[in-house]
Amino acid sequence: MTDKTLLLSHDRGVLTITVNRPDALNALNREVLTELGILLEGPLPPNGSDIRGVILTGAGERAFVAGADIREMSVMTPDEGEAFGALGQRVTRLLEELPVPVIACVSGYALGGGCELAMAADFVYATGSAVFGQPEVSLGLIPGFGGCVRLHHRVGPGWAKELIYTGRRIDAVEARRIGLVNRVFDTREEMLDSAAATLAEIATRSPVAVALCKSAIGDSVGRTTADALAVEKAAFRKTFTTGDMREGTAAFLAKRPPSFPGR
Ligand code: CAA
Repeated sequence: MTDKTLLLSHDRGVLTITVNRPDALNALNREVLTELGILLEGPLPPNGSDIRGVILTGAGERAFVAGADIREMSVMTPDEGEAFGALGQRVTRLLEELPVPVIACVSGYALGGGCELAMAADFVYATGSAVFGQPEVSLGLIPGFGGCVRLHHRVGPGWAKELIYTGRRIDAVEARRIGLVNRVFDTREEMLDSAAATLAEIATRSPVAVALCKSAIGDSVGRTTADALAVEKAAFRKTFTTGDMREGTAAFLAKRPPSFPGR
């Protein structure tokens, strides 16, 4: 792992990943995506088991990520384009499947692959400067890092189709109104502090239960209600095998705070 296109920092169990190509508004080229893939395959640094949450952001105020790298894509053959799409899909899937919560913190542009990367996080915080959109059709492309799949799960098919077919950009307030963004902040510092506070709050809960919720919610997408309920039932059963569940329920009954073993 180089420390060039990705900046990593960790504090009290939170790993912050910053996409760092400010000269290209943090556009995702093969190099950034490859580095992200290696990082997310884990274990997360510095020591995977210590990480209880991830913040994903972009360097600078101008952009979270302004999309997949248009310069690189402009000369790709169909095979290269397919491989590039597969790489972007793999990275967003790895992010989505991390067993710890991930918050995307967006200042400035989150366009195309940037919006798709943000949607692979569990939820999105933004500053008032944030701009979201899937402008691919203006380039003769389509969202290729999961946008055709994830946007309509976030905002419903009507909004997803309008945004994708028009390529229109929306601001943070509208993104919150349609459910793409959870919270909007005045400053980047407030946003990052609030994301860290939310992850710290989640870290006081059972990590096993949070991971099981994450996979049960993620696995429910695209399934029938009956299948999704079967996934939830299996995850619920699994909690009865954990020390976290015995501790959480015992602590409640003893009227004391829980101390989860995390297994
Ligand atoms: N790829 C490569 N380079 C990019 C880029 C991208 N997606 N977005 C911005 N840049 C580069 C610009 O080329 C420019 O580089 P130079 O200084 O070397 O010319 C630099 O970043 C600054 O950008 P601008 O000068 O354009 O800045 P601006 O403030 O005038 O405009 C912007 C900002 C509106 C975000 C504009 O840069 C823009 O429209 N970018 C492209 C957004 C886009 O279409 N994204 C979708 C890409 S396709 C995709 O993502 C496919 C997929 O789903 C996988």
